[in-house]
Amino acid sequence: MKNRYARKSILCSEKYYGRGFHSPGGYEVLDLLFKTLELDNIENVLEVGSGLGAATHYFNKYFGAQVIGLDLSQDMVDICKKRQTSDESKKVEFIQGDLRFTEFNKNHFDLIWIRETLLYIPENERKKVWNNFYSFLKPGGTLAIIEWCRERESVPDEVVEYRKTSNHHDQYPYELLSDLGNSGFTIFLLKDLTNLYVQNLKDGLNILQEMENEFKKDFTVEEFKALVERVELKIRAFTRRDFIMTLVKAKK
Ligand SMILES: C[S@@+](CC[C@H](N)C(=O)[O-])C[C@H]1O[C@@H](n2cnc3c(N)ncnc32)[C@H](O)[C@@H]1O
Repeated sequence: MKNRYARKSILCSEKYYGRGFHSPGGYEVLDLLFKTLELDNIENVLEVGSGLGAATHYFNKYFGAQVIGLDLSQDMVDICKKRQTSDESKKVEFIQGDLRFTEFNKNHFDLIWIRETLLYIPENERKKVWNNFYSFLKPGGTLAIIEWCRERESVPDEVVEYRKTSNHHDQYPYELLSDLGNSGFTIFLLKDLTNLYVQNLKDGLNILQEMENEFKKDFTVEEFKALVERVELKIRAFTRRDFIMTLVKAKK
C-alpha cells in the first residue's frame, strides 16, 4: 500500500487512468454516476480516498460545491495541492488523513463520496467508518459508494494473490448493505457496474498500448509491463466476476 500510492507509482498509474484519476472511465463515467445517483442541492462534499483529485474538482465544477478531498497518501495530496490554482483552493481543499480516524463537523455534508477505497478498510473497522460518515452527513444527505465487491468465495489463485499483495478486503454486497442499514442509512440504489467497469478497463488499456512510446519517456519498460499485467489481471478477474463493481446510494 505504501509503495502502491507513492509518487512514482501514482504518476505511472495516472498515465493509464487519465489526468487526475485513479479509477477508469474519466469524466464520462463521473457524468453517468452523477445522473444515475440523481444528485441535487449539493453544497458541501467530502470525497474520501480522493486520489489525484479529478472527481474532487469536478464536484465543484458540476455542482458549484465546496469540496474536501481526504486521502491517506501524502504524495497524492501534495500532487493535488501543487496542481491547484489559488482560486481553485478556495473551493476545493485537499487534506492528508486516514478515513478511519479523521473527524469532520457533524451534520455538515450533503454528499460523501467513496470510490475504490473502501476495499482497503478491514472488515472489523468498517462499522466505525459508517457511523462516522452518518454523523458527518446532513439529515437527508447522500453517501455514494462505488466499490469492489465479491460474488463468491472460490476464486483462482491469481485473484487470491492479488488480494493479498494489494491488501484488499472486498466484501459481499449484502454485507455492505447490512452494515449501512445497521448504521442508520436507508438504501436508495444498488447497481452492478461490472460490465461498464470491464469496458472502461479495456478502453484504457487500448489507449495505454497506443501511447507505449510516450509512456516509456517517463517510465521504464518494466513499469510499463507491470502496469499492463496488472490491468489485464483486473480485466480477467472482473470478466469472470471474481470481483464485481457495485454502486450504492444510501441516505441519512
Ligand atoms: C484506487 S484509488 C481511488 C482514488 C479516487 N477515488 C479515484 O477514483 O480516482 C484509492 C485511494 O484511496 C486512498 N486510501 C486508501 N486507504 C485510505 C484510508 N484509510 N484513508 C484515506 N484514503 C485512503 C489511496 O491513497 C488512494 O488514493
